[in-house]
Amino acid sequence: MTVPPGSKDEQRSKDEKRSKDEKSIPYDFTANDPFNRIAPIRYVVPQLISSAGFMQSIRDLQVKPDEIAIWFLGQNGFLLKDASNFLIGIDLYLTDSCTAAFAHLPFRLNRQLPVFIEPEDLRLDVFLTTHSHQDHADPETIRRVAPSKTTFIGPYDSLRVYRECGVPEASQRLTHPGQIIELSPTVQMQTTFALPTDDTDLNHTGVLLTFANGIRFYNTGDTAYAEHLSTLLPHDIDICTICINGGFRNLAAAQAAAIANAIQPRVVIPCHYDMMINNVGSPQMFRTALELAGSTAQFVLLPYYEPWIYQSPGAQNQAAETGDK
Ligand SMILES: [Fe+2]
Repeated sequence: MTVPPGSKDEQRSKDEKRSKDEKSIPYDFTANDPFNRIAPIRYVVPQLISSAGFMQSIRDLQVKPDEIAIWFLGQNGFLLKDASNFLIGIDLYLTDSCTAAFAHLPFRLNRQLPVFIEPEDLRLDVFLTTHSHQDHADPETIRRVAPSKTTFIGPYDSLRVYRECGVPEASQRLTHPGQIIELSPTVQMQTTFALPTDDTDLNHTGVLLTFANGIRFYNTGDTAYAEHLSTLLPHDIDICTICINGGFRNLAAAQAAAIANAIQPRVVIPCHYDMMINNVGSPQMFRTALELAGSTAQFVLLPYYEPWIYQSPGAQNQAAETGDK
């Protein structure tokens, strides 16, 4: 049934959907005190499935030609797969290495999510990092990834990390903002612009993945805010995954909402709010900021462990037309 735009039924339908979505946010990212160095760490979500079992479930999932599947592994970590079974990993932080690396700071950066997949169990076609910060290009993760046919792609300083971690030269690929790389016959990657958040890596990037079924997925990477930033970012995209934590000069909720509103993706997915005890953000605040900005994008909070399936708009329209008859 089609609900007339602007009608009471439309408002009720929106309210019902909102209410349903709000109930579906079961996570508390603020349960741990970052300044209490001795309290046991409470995980946001328990370990629900073994590392090997989870990886196997990802490999086994059959993706339809008009879909892509996305798994969220916390922080800026994503796995993406299309019908050809080509599997791409973005910024996979699969250890707790930041705890020791940043032990000198007055607060804790321990992970509060389980390690969903141990690096040794990872089987990928592409291991991509958007920049070299340790929560994105994690040396311990990279060292422990099993030797395979994986190609390691990233900007200048990510390649330094790959080299230091012993990734063979032939398996590395340097990329620059604006560059287009055909990852496979069904996936094209374009490196996008991002603003550095400090001077330890001046080569921040994001990534736009375009799949053969037309679906365009964009990840901002870590980026600082600038008024003209949205003019430098990709438009006409289906899915935008965007950092919202506001800490360490990343986009804060209202800034991320302004960017999302300017580039107008069909779906906006917050990220980088969950992993580390003193680097959390509020997906609800981001959602509120989106509403205040008048965004038309659909807000989606990704669950852990489960794949999120996105169907191409053409197929969605076709399904809606068939359903309306
Ligand atoms: Fe980060």
